[in-house]
Amino acid sequence: MCPMPNAYLDVGIQSRMNRIISPKDNRVVMLAVDHPYFQGPTTGLKDMSTTIKTLLPYCDCLMTTRGAVRANIAPEDVGSKPIMLRVSGGNSVLFEELSDEKLTVTIKEAIRMDAAGVAVSVYVGAANQQQTIMNLTDMINQADEYGIPVLAVTAVGKNMARDLRYLALASRICQDAGARIIKTYYCDEFSKLVDSVAPTPVVVAGGKYSSPPDAMKMAYDSIQAGAVGVDFGRNIFQDENPIGMIKAINAIVHGNHTVKEALDIYNACLPGARKLE
Ligand code: R5P
Repeated sequence: MCPMPNAYLDVGIQSRMNRIISPKDNRVVMLAVDHPYFQGPTTGLKDMSTTIKTLLPYCDCLMTTRGAVRANIAPEDVGSKPIMLRVSGGNSVLFEELSDEKLTVTIKEAIRMDAAGVAVSVYVGAANQQQTIMNLTDMINQADEYGIPVLAVTAVGKNMARDLRYLALASRICQDAGARIIKTYYCDEFSKLVDSVAPTPVVVAGGKYSSPPDAMKMAYDSIQAGAVGVDFGRNIFQDENPIGMIKAINAIVHGNHTVKEALDIYNACLPGARKLE
């Protein structure tokens, strides 16, 4: 039987969603390299062009900023992977209150740069909660006109809890605003968070550098709990073996590999005879 065409499908949104999250397995390995927008020179990104050039072949999508796309993607690599363009900012690590963000890139600029999606941070429960939720809704109102999916990041302030109660609440607010993808942090009972925003896809941020086994376990647990993938940054580009790390994460996300199997992949890329257990 021929599948019926879906008259209600938003073709532009779906086309870009398919570029971000593989329709083959509904999974994504997003590489986050947007940190300098508020951290300035970030460990592992001082030579950002080389970092991106090295890791681009192993990710499905690159989350980054307008300036980084202009300055750090080699001309021959432009268009080789979909870009999730960060379009909120205006804060810095020098200021205690990180939630003071506004929209920084117009939707026309995102289209001109061929972004597959745009990303906005929301600080639920922080001093500038309303401003950041309005950043998200304003961007969704604009992006919907052009068929661009918006990814909402449930950002957390320095002293905010990363538990199920908080992250599920923040994620649900992002879904309700109209976000097409939610990026949040892993927490205990994560499947409850995924269920609470289904069918909106959830990707998991890595957080501060931990260790290869711990980061792999977080990726594994996230996938088992129903996340469509990860958007890891520091646990990949700050590792001594970034290619091994991103290959291992890829195997967990797309190949349903265990942490032990992923560690074998990581170890195969470690120079010399060293091995992590
Ligand atoms: C935070 O808002 C940034 O968008 C980063 O992209 C995000 O934290 C993911 O990177 P990492 O895995 O280093 O935490």
